[in-house]
Amino acid sequence: MEETHLEPRPASASRIRLAILTQPGHANAFGTIHGGVLLKLADECGAVAALRHAGRGQVATAAMDSMMFLDPVHVGERIEIVAEVSYVGRSSIETRIEILAEPYDRAEPRRVALGYALYVALDEVNRRPRPVPPLLITSDADRLALEQALARQAVRLARRAEALQTS
Ligand SMILES: CC(C)(COP(=O)(O)OP(=O)(O)OC[C@H]1O[C@@H](n2cnc3c(N)ncnc32)[C@H](O)[C@@H]1OP(=O)(O)O)[C@@H](O)C(=O)NCCC(=O)NCCS
Repeated sequence: MEETHLEPRPASASRIRLAILTQPGHANAFGTIHGGVLLKLADECGAVAALRHAGRGQVATAAMDSMMFLDPVHVGERIEIVAEVSYVGRSSIETRIEILAEPYDRAEPRRVALGYALYVALDEVNRRPRPVPPLLITSDADRLALEQALARQAVRLARRAEALQTS
């Protein structure tokens, strides 16, 4: 079985940072950065972190949840998205996504959003879910984080079941 050869990987191996300078084209009618722009960047960054963990192939976004927008971002600020794997199932990979913002001219970052997204690793040939390396758990902090991630995943699966029923 392919799964028996999968070596656990630490969350840190998947960490990725993506920064952009915000422009007027990113803004909504009120002059702050459109939430959809931030969500797109968050999804892209989360997907790359999941791909880094999976090691190859392709990932599909299965869920984006709990994205909290904490503070508006203004045109003329630099934003940085930081994503890292926070939970791994058999084929599913959750990433934690944090968004920071700061004025162009000052290195004073503040957290403006935080959320999680769930990706599924797909086989390149048949595009079916495929097994991925487990997440390396070494500390009590890792174990606590795992418990919290399992609780988030349980909520997601309940919401998915509900969505499938009502569609
Ligand atoms: C995501 C997708 C590939 C899952 O395929 P599937 O055949 O339903 O796969 P399964 O039910 O076997 O689920 C595979 C894994 O993903 C998890 N999963 C699937 N959907 C999930 C969801 N909404 N929330 C949480 N976990 C989910 C399952 O629990 C399972 O986890 P595990 O392998 O770690 O145990 C499929 O639903 C899909 O293609 N969705 C559309 C994806 C897409 O187009 N995204 C971009 C639009 S924004």
